[in-house]
Parts: sequence; C-alpha cells; structure tokens
Amino acid sequence: MRRNKRPLRPHQEGDDKEEIAKLRKSLFKEFEMKDLGELKYFLGIEVLRSKQGIFMCQRKYVLDLLAETGMVDCKPADTPMIVNQKLYMKEKAELAEKERYRRMVGKLIYLSHTRPDIAYAVGVVSQFMHQPQKAHMEAVLRIIRYLKGTAGHGVLFRSNGHLETQLYTDADWAGDKGNRRSTAGYFTLVGGNLVTWRSKKQKVVALSSAEAEFRGIARGLTEVLWRLKKQAAGGGGGTEDFVDVLLKIQKEDSVGVPLEKIAIKALLLDAYTAGTDTTATVIEWAFTELLKHPKVFKKARDEVRTILNGKQRINQDDINNMKYLKAVFKETLRLHPPIPTLVPRVACQDVKVMGYDVEKGTRVIINAWAIARDPKVWDEPEEFRPERFLDSSIDFKGLDFNLIPFGAGRRGCPGIAFAMATNENILANLLHKFDWELPNGDKADDLDTNERTGLTIRKKTPLLAVATPFSS
Ligand code: HEM
Repeated sequence: MRRNKRPLRPHQEGDDKEEIAKLRKSLFKEFEMKDLGELKYFLGIEVLRSKQGIFMCQRKYVLDLLAETGMVDCKPADTPMIVNQKLYMKEKAELAEKERYRRMVGKLIYLSHTRPDIAYAVGVVSQFMHQPQKAHMEAVLRIIRYLKGTAGHGVLFRSNGHLETQLYTDADWAGDKGNRRSTAGYFTLVGGNLVTWRSKKQKVVALSSAEAEFRGIARGLTEVLWRLKKQAAGGGGGTEDFVDVLLKIQKEDSVGVPLEKIAIKALLLDAYTAGTDTTATVIEWAFTELLKHPKVFKKARDEVRTILNGKQRINQDDINNMKYLKAVFKETLRLHPPIPTLVPRVACQDVKVMGYDVEKGTRVIINAWAIARDPKVWDEPEEFRPERFLDSSIDFKGLDFNLIPFGAGRRGCPGIAFAMATNENILANLLHKFDWELPNGDKADDLDTNERTGLTIRKKTPLLAVATPFSS
C-alpha cells in the first residue's frame, strides 16, 4: 500500500531553524528544563548525524549484552533464526534456566527498538518466558550470535523530500506447531524511512492462508490509519485519495451513520481483495489465450504497434483506439470470468422469478461462467474468437445479461472502469515492449487451459512465457 505523495513543507524536513527556535522557546516556557544540545546517546540508543541523515543504533548495548552473556568471542550466525525453525513447547523436554532466559529476552526486546531484523525471532522466543526449554535457549543464543556479526546495524532516517506513507504486511499460515496459530508482521515507511514494525502471533486460528494474510493486512491498516489521521489533523494538503475520503466522511459524519474504524478497514480490505486477484487472473488468462492463438496474438500486437507508431509511452487516447485489444479482453472475460459464480445473493422476500417460487432467505448463486458458454446465446462458445465483439454492441457493464463477468445491478462491481484501464494498459505495454514465445520450444497447442478451484478461478499451472525486449 502506498499513498500520499505530498510535497514537504520546509518545516517538516526538521532543519527549519526558526521553527526549532520557536519550539524550544515554548518548551522552556511550559517546562522547567535544560538544553543539553544535540541528542547523542539516550537509554542505550546512539544517535549519529551525517550528511546522509540521522542514524540510530544500539551498538554499545549489543557489545554489553555479548560481554554479559560471555559471548564476546562466539562465532557469528548469518541469520537471527534457523530458516523454517518451528519452536514450540515440547512435552517433557529439558528446561532452561528461567531467570537467565528472561533477562536475555528482555534485553533483546529492548534492542528491537532499532533492530527490525530481529523482531520476528525475538517475538518467537518471547512466547516461552513462562517455562523456557533448552531449544528455546539455543534460539536466544543464536540471536545473540547473529548480533555479534551485525552490532553496528540500525535505522537510518534520511530526507527523501516527501511524506508518502507505505505499508507492507505478510503472514505465515499455522506457523505455530503447538496451537496452529499464524504469525503476521507489518512495517510502515513514512517519507521512505522505516518508522514502525511489528511481528505478532494472531489471536485466533486462521482457517486459510488467505485469512491469515487478511488479518495481517487489517492489523497493518490499523497502524497506518492511526498515523494518517494524525497527519490529516495537521493539515495534509495534496490530492485526496480513497483513504482521505473515508477519513473525511468519518470526521465530518457526512453520510448520516457513523463510519467506524472497523468499517473503514473493511472497505479498504474489500477494495484490495476485489481488485488485485481479479486483475492478475484476467491478465494471465488473456495472455494464455493470445499465446494459444498465434493469429489473434499477431493481430493484437500489430494493432498496438501500428497505433503507437514508434511512440514509447501509451496514453488513454491510444488505448481507446485499440478496438481489437478491447475485443480480446471481452472474449477473455467471457471464457474466463475471474469470479465465475459472482458474489452470492440472498432473497430478502418471497419472489416469483420466471415461474419459479423463490422463498425468502434462499441463497442465489449466478453462474456467469455457464451463461457465457451457453450455445443458445453464443455461436461456437468454446472458441476463443475476439472478432465476435468487433461489430457487436455487447458489453460487460451489466446491461447485457449474456456477458456478466463483473456482475450486474446494485451489487455489481464498482471497479470496472479502474479494472479495465489497468488491464488494457498492462496488456498493451506487454505487447508493445516485448516479443514473446513459449519456453523450451513448446507449441501453442501444448498450452493447457485447466482451471484451479477457488473464489477466483486462475490457471491451474501458472503461465510461463519468454520475453525479448522489442524496440521500434
Ligand atoms: C478484471 C477485474 C475484475 C473483475 C472480473 C471483477 C469482478 C467482480 C464481480 C463479479 C463482483 C461481484 C458482482 C456481483 O455479484 O454482481 C465484484 C464486486 C466488487 N468489485 Fe470487482 N472485479 C474486478 C476488479 C475490481 C477492481 C479493480 C476493484 C476496485 C479497485 C473492484 C472492486 C469491487 C468491489 C468493492 C466489489 C463489491 C464487493 C462486495 O459486494 O462486497 N473490482 N467484482
């Protein structure tokens, strides 16, 4: 997630002397205090300044820890933890010395203030404080051996000229062998600098890897929403995006019902999930069908390259003229709707549809995939033939019920325009900038179109193709 590419006002860069003097004066007025000059060392954290920026580390703290544990001469480890090591409470395992373990882990937790690289490993070992076993102690000693080789690592804050917020999240699935709980982590960057990070075991058992990931995303969103709210309160400026609009609605209470933080998180997750997998799926299918049908491929590529006529950057006007490319997408969405059964609906009252009685509460599933392959409405439905759309007014916007890859009606996809602009841009660029062939001399006929099960129906085996840069 990236947002808020805002230019910095001078005082936000931290070197506005006038503003600093003003702040100092008002602090002296409010509190009884003494100015000790630039911060260099505070509670074990060293602060170094250079042209590159401000660097924070706990080198001395690490050296003290090595001395205290008698590990000054130990052999350094490359990583804080053995890859894929699953630590858990083993029955009847030999116990470690509790006091020593707690003291060491306590110090490692404090060290995590400037060491995001050990956050995960420290998070794991801190779960066994109540009754540490030998294996847990070995994991702690390994973290310390890792620190031996990386004592000078820390966090650098530099002025990158913007205050953009970025969030990255990730999660494992059922990583804890003991109770099957997953661990998720996030880190946020502001102005390109790492400001917060966390790795934490989830409270409930996620039933799928997707659930574990979503819980991780939701946790990360809580973190950035808090930060962005503070930023907005300080007068953010710049262009409004989706998150700004939601926060504004919340603040001004402008939709008649309160917009809770949990609803904002749900809306962001909704747009994220609805917009990412679907787009990736349809691009993969479009490219698979193009590679499987060399004549169609050539026609689409020639159209793109003729319209661009040597130009490097593609704009929306160019894409609007790519009629064949648009037909390729309609045909792809007909044969491979990424969400083949749409989103389920529930009848909220008894209704009669085409002579059938549908009782209130009935769950209705619409098979958009089957409709789009129905020989009663489509000529040679199993064929991939984009030409069928060239002289046809049929579109996927929800008005032609024989082609509804985005659904229809009030529940229909609100992201159609965005999705198609993204899809068309990606495919046009792939055709414009590269020549393509199948790997290992594979033939077009060898390309399989088997589907994988899931909410979005992707290709069973991921598409592999070899790209050679093309310049006109
Ligand atoms: C090729 C790309 C996409 C396809 C095929 C697609 C398809 C769909 C379908 C079939 C539905 C359910 C409609 C219904 O049941 O009537 C839906 C809902 C939705 N789509 Fe899309 N979509 C795509 C891209 C996007 C994008 C890029 C966004 C947003 C950035 C988006 C946001 C949504 C949202 C918010 C919903 C409503 C979910 C709900 O009802 O809770 N979609 N989409």
